[in-house]
Amino acid sequence: MRLDKFLGESTDLSRTDARKVLKSGEITVNGEMVNQGSHVIKEGDVVLWDDEPLALIGLRYIMLNKPAGYECSLKNSAYPSVMMLLDVDKRDRLRTVGRLDVDTTGLILITDDGQWTHRIISPRHQCDKVYVATLAEPLPDNAEAIFQAGILLNGEDKPTLPAVLERIDERTARLTIQEGKYHQVKRMFASLGNLVQALHRERIGSLVLDDSLEPGESRYLTPAEVQELAAGS
Ligand code: URA
Repeated sequence: MRLDKFLGESTDLSRTDARKVLKSGEITVNGEMVNQGSHVIKEGDVVLWDDEPLALIGLRYIMLNKPAGYECSLKNSAYPSVMMLLDVDKRDRLRTVGRLDVDTTGLILITDDGQWTHRIISPRHQCDKVYVATLAEPLPDNAEAIFQAGILLNGEDKPTLPAVLERIDERTARLTIQEGKYHQVKRMFASLGNLVQALHRERIGSLVLDDSLEPGESRYLTPAEVQELAAGS
């Protein structure tokens, strides 16, 4: 790879700034100053910028404990983006895997690997998403059966896939769904005339939100976690 491309991939420098850094002799390759962007970097070369080693940023897989009041979408909004909570380079490359509403808390995955995202959110892969919902009204006796049978939500032409409702107490339930329709959980409870007052995601597939992460904190997934999720388990 050319050195100018390498700088673009391994730092937050714009092309113009990378050129300036090169021209001012701040980059060494294997101990020699190099100021030509066309210089080819080979595997094993040691590239330093002001004596600090540079390495290519590979694909990243992050779990964040999303606090309320942060937005998953990148469009301008009244709320800050969840990306602001990450202290990482090249933040603009990262996307959330699906979305949580601004008032929803808990597990959100963030990555720059679009194929991996697709495997997790595609309904074909039937990856479980597990939420705990706090409700305004008590659950009806037959709530489990209603969720299991599937619910025809307003504006949809097919009912939701069977969902598993587990009653925690009369106003709290754990719900496992395999889809991610817009406001799906809130709309499912709304169809019973109920209102979700708080919603927290605790699991996606095999991956449980790490309980050592305070709201707003994040960590990289382990390679095993990345693979397990992609395999659909
Ligand atoms: N369903 C919702 O209604 N909101 C979320 O944030 C996630 C699932």
